[in-house]
Amino acid sequence: MNEKTTDLSFFKKGLLKWFKNNDRPLPWKGEKNPYYIWLSEIILQQTRVEQGLPYFEKFKRHFPTIKKLADASEDTVMKLWEGLGYYSRARNLHATAKFITYNLDGIFPTTHEEILKLKGVGPYTAAAIASFAYGLPYAVVDGNVYRVLSRVFGIETPIDSTPGKKQFAQLADQLLAKRTAGVYNQAIMDFGATQCTPANPNCTICPFQKKCVALASDRISSLPVKSKKLKKRERYFNYLLIKCGDTILLHKRTEKDIWQNLYDFPLIEATTLLSKEELVATDFFEGLLENTAYEFTKRSKPFKQLLTHQKIIAVFNEISLKKLPKSIPSLFIPVNQKNIPKFAFPKIIDWYLKDKSLYLELF
Ligand code: ADE
Repeated sequence: MNEKTTDLSFFKKGLLKWFKNNDRPLPWKGEKNPYYIWLSEIILQQTRVEQGLPYFEKFKRHFPTIKKLADASEDTVMKLWEGLGYYSRARNLHATAKFITYNLDGIFPTTHEEILKLKGVGPYTAAAIASFAYGLPYAVVDGNVYRVLSRVFGIETPIDSTPGKKQFAQLADQLLAKRTAGVYNQAIMDFGATQCTPANPNCTICPFQKKCVALASDRISSLPVKSKKLKKRERYFNYLLIKCGDTILLHKRTEKDIWQNLYDFPLIEATTLLSKEELVATDFFEGLLENTAYEFTKRSKPFKQLLTHQKIIAVFNEISLKKLPKSIPSLFIPVNQKNIPKFAFPKIIDWYLKDKSLYLELF
């Protein structure tokens, strides 16, 4: 930043004026119940408003109070969260609802410090809740804010570096309209999401057109700067769809890995997709189906799902049995096909099931 930009009040003024004319009607706006604010902010972490909206409405409908959420079963919460991704959010939401209900007498914390201690609540979410619910002066800083500030002020410090994080946090704090922190935070979130978009922002209608350093120096598309380029780990999932009549074996993912507490099928993870012969030769296959007559009936096309740090490539091998094995490890749950829609699955499994029209046959 150069000396001329040290008068920062233009930013707050421009932003709040823009917000007056561009306020989107969203159900959590103006909400004062900290439970609903918290719920909306957890849902909106890493999620676009359009995608999160129906989930917010659904959760409010099912769990109008924190206690209702606390007392729900884990499977119910996971099923309602199905399709939204980042499932640790749902587990933390549930754990925190229990904590508030049973350790804090059902009273949502009222200070920034206490809000920040809640499981699943990081600095961004704590600032959002504290400012929206209680008007406390904490500035939100997330990807949207990095983008807006790096462009308007022409900051090239990488946003994923320690100095970058510090610099942006300090600037965000300086810029914050402290007496109307909630409105200001909502305004910068909306401004980042709808005006100062990652690709092709319409700078001709931007209130900072005259001030924006990136626009003046043709750096809109190169800001913000990130130092590390994420390399996704590729994982190959060879699923076994073991069917016996109407019964299918499901598997509950309890391991400390992606999709914890969701359901999938017996899985052989390998460094590639495996052929039938390779599958049969694995210890897992032998262990599960030894002394059992089986027949491979179908093999799906590969399905791919991109996660933040991983790329999952999955193939579903359908195997038909005349009789279920005598002993099935407790990890695997025999389920009647018609009950499949009751379980919460990762997206890649849903895609496969939808592709097979299993759901259509069943509903
Ligand atoms: N993203 C995270 N929180 C948000 C909010 N309150 N409004 C719009 N987008 C958001």
